[in-house]
Amino acid sequence: MSNISIIGTGNMARTLGARAIAGGNTVEIMGRDQSKATDLAKALGGGTTTGEWSTAPAGDIVIVALLHDGVVPAVAHYGDALAGKVIIDISNPFNSTFDGLAHREETSIAQEVAKAAPADASVVKAFNTVFRHVLEEGRPDVFIAGDDAQAKASVEAFIESLGLRPLDVGGLTMAHWLEGAGLVTVGLANHGVGNPDFALSITELPV
Ligand SMILES: NC(=O)c1ccc[n+]([C@@H]2O[C@H](COP(=O)([O-])OP(=O)(O)OC[C@H]3O[C@@H](n4cnc5c(N)ncnc54)[C@H](OP(=O)(O)O)[C@@H]3O)[C@@H](O)[C@H]2O)c1
Repeated sequence: MSNISIIGTGNMARTLGARAIAGGNTVEIMGRDQSKATDLAKALGGGTTTGEWSTAPAGDIVIVALLHDGVVPAVAHYGDALAGKVIIDISNPFNSTFDGLAHREETSIAQEVAKAAPADASVVKAFNTVFRHVLEEGRPDVFIAGDDAQAKASVEAFIESLGLRPLDVGGLTMAHWLEGAGLVTVGLANHGVGNPDFALSITELPV
């Protein structure tokens, strides 16, 4: 069981919160609009609590479930309140035409979060390649990237508590390519697959 704080009160916060509770974890919701946080906590039930925006989260794992351009500013605003936390960045920084990333360089929101977060916080990219409704209804593989082995182990344990398979793609620089995989997912939904009712997954040859 993990103690999870979710910063955000939107669709992904709701879906991850519901799955986290179903998986036996404790959940705290934090939103810049306290009334939305209170409403979501009430809707999630299962002992979900709320915390005040930019104060120290109760959870050891903090999921930042905000639109991509709000993620780094929010982490900077929380500042030392995130000391020692495992921060999960789930964002997809798509450009306006959904055929590229909003940032040009070989960076990622997760890498920028690591720069903005306290030195003893650890950042893991996860969940961004999975459409919300697939996370809600399916059992998709969840790709993760991060530099800290202990942080990744705790995120993997959390993902397993949701009944899902975590798959480590490497260090935090790989978060850039996970953001690219998010784009590939949208491209497949718009083209080859033709609908969003799927997730990228790994098929291993039998040994
Ligand atoms: N939806 C999906 O299928 C999916 C899948 C994978 C990853 N993601 C990623 O998950 C993240 C959240 O997506 P979502 O679908 O949950 O979006 P959403 O329903 O639109 O919720 C967005 C949340 O971000 C908050 N927010 C927006 N701008 C902010 C800012 N500048 N500062 C602080 N808070 C801000 C909103 O707060 P207010 O209500 O106060 O405006 C709201 O709580 C995004 O980065 C997205 O790329 C989404």
